[in-house]
Amino acid sequence: MICKELNHSQCKTYLVACEDTRRAVLIDPVRANIDRYLALLAYHALALDAVIDTHTHADHPSGASWLQEWTDTRLIMHTRAPTPKATEHVDDGDIVKVGGLELRVLYTPGHTPDSISLYIKDRVFTGDVLLIGGTGRADFAGGDSGEQYDAITEKLFTLPGDTVVYPAHDYRGNSFTTVGKERQTNPRIAGKSRQEYIDLMASIDFPLPSKIQEVLQPNQTAIDDDAIKFPNLVQLNEVRQLAPQEVQLKLMGDPAPVLIDVREPDEYNGELGHIEGSRLIPLKELPARMKELDNQQDREIIAICRSGVRSTTAAALLTGLGFAHVHNLKGGMVDWNVHRLPVQRRS
Ligand SMILES: [Fe+2]
Repeated sequence: MICKELNHSQCKTYLVACEDTRRAVLIDPVRANIDRYLALLAYHALALDAVIDTHTHADHPSGASWLQEWTDTRLIMHTRAPTPKATEHVDDGDIVKVGGLELRVLYTPGHTPDSISLYIKDRVFTGDVLLIGGTGRADFAGGDSGEQYDAITEKLFTLPGDTVVYPAHDYRGNSFTTVGKERQTNPRIAGKSRQEYIDLMASIDFPLPSKIQEVLQPNQTAIDDDAIKFPNLVQLNEVRQLAPQEVQLKLMGDPAPVLIDVREPDEYNGELGHIEGSRLIPLKELPARMKELDNQQDREIIAICRSGVRSTTAAALLTGLGFAHVHNLKGGMVDWNVHRLPVQRRS
């Protein structure tokens, strides 16, 4: 197995490749370095078989969707990842095959709802969940320090002690650690109860990454042009979130709310299906298609997408344009399906 860290900086990207088949996977590629990655793959005669983002990054533009588009490779993320560009979704226990290599997916939420770790042979890539002498922040939207505690103590810390840990970030110049070392000495979590960890994380005043919305929105939506003026964090936080059951109840009302599904057409007709009567207006087309919603300003509107992130953006946009009663389907069609509510598979 070939395994290299490619950035040698605070944001880490890993190249993992099968020596026999020369097939490679890039884990957490940074957009600014795409040219370098492609040159390196060519130099080592490696074919890019897959790109994996361990989660939706908030602190740097991801290169994953660009690499997927340019090289037609697979883009693999957790099933709750919001981007429409993922070509394969994985969940806990799934195996990602790259040539003769097998990477086992561990669902390790907490930093974000779509965080995964990747376990292969004697090493584990932990994204921003478990860091070297630290853990990832859990205060972003969808973050949950209790879930993070469970993921680290029940999944990562139960791996063999000599398993090498490669995180997605390190701010002190370190490159790796081991499960055993973190289990014993990690100052955030070693020896702490779940409640002690939650209290500790709540007490830390993490600064917001600079330009967080400018980075996060393209990573979440794959829209990276001026077509949309994205809402700010305050506007996003003001969107009223409705659980799937609440939406289902509203659908029985008269008049029923207007359902706007902002995914791409292939997702609308894809594995998760769509809610009967929902109108497909992909997020990137929403500003140009506002005329279709004329006279709906006072109607109740519910925005829908895959995991509830893109649709929160859509709901905030509509609210900003004067629509008075816009809500969001929390957890999107992923949670709608988890609750086994009715879907249509084709339009
Ligand atoms: Fe992160």
